[in-house]
Amino acid sequence: MDAQTLPYHRIGGDAVIARIVDRFYDLMDGEPQYAELRAIHAPDLAPMRASLTGFLIAWLGGPQDWFTDRPGACVMSAHGNIRVTPETARQWLDAMARAFAETGVGPDVAAMVGEAFTNMAQAMARRDS
Ligand code: HEM
Repeated sequence: MDAQTLPYHRIGGDAVIARIVDRFYDLMDGEPQYAELRAIHAPDLAPMRASLTGFLIAWLGGPQDWFTDRPGACVMSAHGNIRVTPETARQWLDAMARAFAETGVGPDVAAMVGEAFTNMAQAMARRDS
């Protein structure tokens, strides 16, 4: 894949990804429709803003620091002790789709990344937990 076609570049690099993540956590923190999702997060969202930004930068094809700082890290196992239900997964996907759209990410790359998020969220969700 040509470097400029990586989702990381198509989205706009570090600064735009940080804006998406800030918008995502602001929505989660501020809107009652995400209250259930907010409730399973720590009161201080600052560490998660930094971690999710770093993860997305690396996972979308940018600098790999999030992975090299955490040898063997996997975003699925990072949720191993978190109670992800179909409803909290739905809230996560909804807030993230809005964050992408409101940050001005192009619809094609937003749809492609959104499909991958949906697959990850479905795998994290456990109906019986
Ligand atoms: C499916 C719904 C999801 C729920 C309910 C959920 C929930 C959570 C919670 C509760 C935390 C810990 C927050 C805290 O300690 O304050 C977390 C951390 C994190 N989540 Fe999710 N998550 C979801 C999906 C995803 C997806 C799809 C991704 C990746 C695209 C992701 C990436 C991360 C990252 C990178 C962290 C930080 C891990 C760390 O630094 O230890 N999450 N998530």
